[in-house]
Amino acid sequence: SRRITIRDLRVAKENGERWPMLTSYDMYTAEIFDEAGIPVLLVGDSAGNNVYAHADTVPVTVEEMVPLARAVVRSTKRALIVCDLPFGSYQLGPEQALATSIQVMKETGVQAVKLEGGRTVVESVRRIVEAGIPVMAHTGFTPQSVNALGGYRVQGRGAQADELIESALALEEAGAFSIVLEMVTAQVAAEVTKRLSIPVIGIGAGPDCDAQVLVWQDMAGMRPDEAPTPRFVKAFGHLRRDLAAATHAFADEVVAGRFPADEHTYH
Ligand code: KIV
Ligand code: NA
Repeated sequence: SRRITIRDLRVAKENGERWPMLTSYDMYTAEIFDEAGIPVLLVGDSAGNNVYAHADTVPVTVEEMVPLARAVVRSTKRALIVCDLPFGSYQLGPEQALATSIQVMKETGVQAVKLEGGRTVVESVRRIVEAGIPVMAHTGFTPQSVNALGGYRVQGRGAQADELIESALALEEAGAFSIVLEMVTAQVAAEVTKRLSIPVIGIGAGPDCDAQVLVWQDMAGMRPDEAPTPRFVKAFGHLRRDLAAATHAFADEVVAGRFPADEHTYH
């Protein structure tokens, strides 16, 4: 069985088939998501605030992304793997964007890269695509620009809507094979989904997108209950609770002298 291709995703859109996407940054999650049939996995720079314990994605480097992406590629057979270009690795322009994309493709084995932005990154997208590297675009709320956007705010409201729609069209025209829309109103996302022939992947973008993506720790319920959670997150499991329970059980048995038992012991 071969990996999913960007062509398969376009066909899915033509057939009106919705699909799920998740982030992954390591072996076991990649294995589990691949076996579950998730067609696209993103090695997101959300590793910044989900793996590396930064407050946001701004500090993440290419050197930090590469080993995670390699692990996800090695742990999967079927999913199309996308790696984020982190902040600072493409903002200097098309030349830097292409150089970073080539480095990521060569060093990781992923099938595509993703970068954030609207009109300002259109020429970078074109350049990377012309070199033979599939590009996933990402617009609406773009976390790498959180400091400029004034926090985690819904994008494309009111007069901004036309600009967002035009940007999405320009990114498609530049050759992006798909586009993530983050934190935009359902109305704007539905309009973009209708007007584009490439798949539109929503996160906080309502129900009418072609696909939906979540950060896996959010999807699985890994976040602490007290952590502020965006409206668009739904926890489909209780992984934090389950892992805490296993940890307490292990600790209690060690303290009580009940682990290891005879069956875990060499004689
Ligand atoms: O890094 C990430 O997890 C992302 C998704 C939220 C699309 O960019
Ligand atoms: Na990202």
